[in-house]
Amino acid sequence: MSEAQTEKRKRILSGIQPTGTPTLGNYVGAVRNWALLQKDYDCLYMIADLHALTVRQVPADLRRRTRELAALLLATGIDPVKNVLFVQSHVPAHCELSWILACNTQFGELSRMTQFKDKSAKHPDNVNGGLFTYPVLMAADILIYNADLVPVGQDQTQHLELARNIAGRFNGVYGDTFTLPEGYVPAAGAKLMSLAEPTKKMSKSDTNLNSFVLMTDDKDTIVRKFKRAVTDSDGQVRFDRENKPGVSNLMTIYSVFTGKTMEEIEAEFAGRGYGDFKLAVAEATADALVPVQTEYDRILADKDYVDSVLRDGAERASRLANRTVSKVYRKVGLLQLDRH
Ligand code: TYM
Repeated sequence: MSEAQTEKRKRILSGIQPTGTPTLGNYVGAVRNWALLQKDYDCLYMIADLHALTVRQVPADLRRRTRELAALLLATGIDPVKNVLFVQSHVPAHCELSWILACNTQFGELSRMTQFKDKSAKHPDNVNGGLFTYPVLMAADILIYNADLVPVGQDQTQHLELARNIAGRFNGVYGDTFTLPEGYVPAAGAKLMSLAEPTKKMSKSDTNLNSFVLMTDDKDTIVRKFKRAVTDSDGQVRFDRENKPGVSNLMTIYSVFTGKTMEEIEAEFAGRGYGDFKLAVAEATADALVPVQTEYDRILADKDYVDSVLRDGAERASRLANRTVSKVYRKVGLLQLDRH
């Protein structure tokens, strides 16, 4: 065996909440890379259903969406045999570690999380404790597997930084325990913007349905939404995030799906109107999403298969996670009884 083959592969952990259908932002910023990274890493991919509870959910919808999201992730090409696909609540160890980490995280650190501030402003009637301690659970998700790399979009980088800080502090007090995780934030598309208000992040919770493309939108819908996308009045396809946020966002999407550079895209559409450009972006997006949608329909039709993947994923993830929790419990001084 060559050295490369014997070398231990690095580990990836990432997650996505089962709140609504994922958007093009989720896909480009994170999920698309999950499938691409599996050839070089051992990957654990998680449906973060416990995180979803920080906002009130309709129970039956949450259950249905969890299974649908599993099918959609499989449809993007995630291989559940080589990697581990699981649901967060199926691995109770995450909550166990989360408590220990919460006792090693400062109130001030959590108060500085911008997502907490944004979400509290958005749901002033439900600023619950879970919303506040959410980044601690996310740290537990990552640290429990000693993940080396965490592929996420830009909006999760502050949470990731906190996970590193918690890990570093814990290691300092109790001795080397956790791997310090690195972020994997894509060079292009780490923050796709709303199609309606391109200075805002594209988000599935936006009330304006034309502001996002969903991963399950059909081609006609995708074309319609891109046609309506807000641009500007100077009519030139040119990358300038500051002054031309709408056009720059569309160029980013086009670049991700075609592999073309911004200069190549500018040259391709020089002297042509936004109409042509928007149609090309829509077509490139549909070409990427339609095959995923076909797979999704096929996989979701076999509910037993999806559930068997999740059952197997929960078992394999639990085995790894329980080992970390035992080690951490021992390190912090919780009494563990011998097994008879
Ligand atoms: P969630 O479900 O909000 O989003 C899933 C992933 O999609 C990325 N993303 C975007 N990327 C680019 N442009 C956008 N407009 C856009 N919107 C969302 C997010 O950055 C994310 O990578 N807390 C996480 C879930 C989670 C997790 C974890 C992630 C729980 N535990 C451990 C990594 C590691 C979340 O709410 O993602």
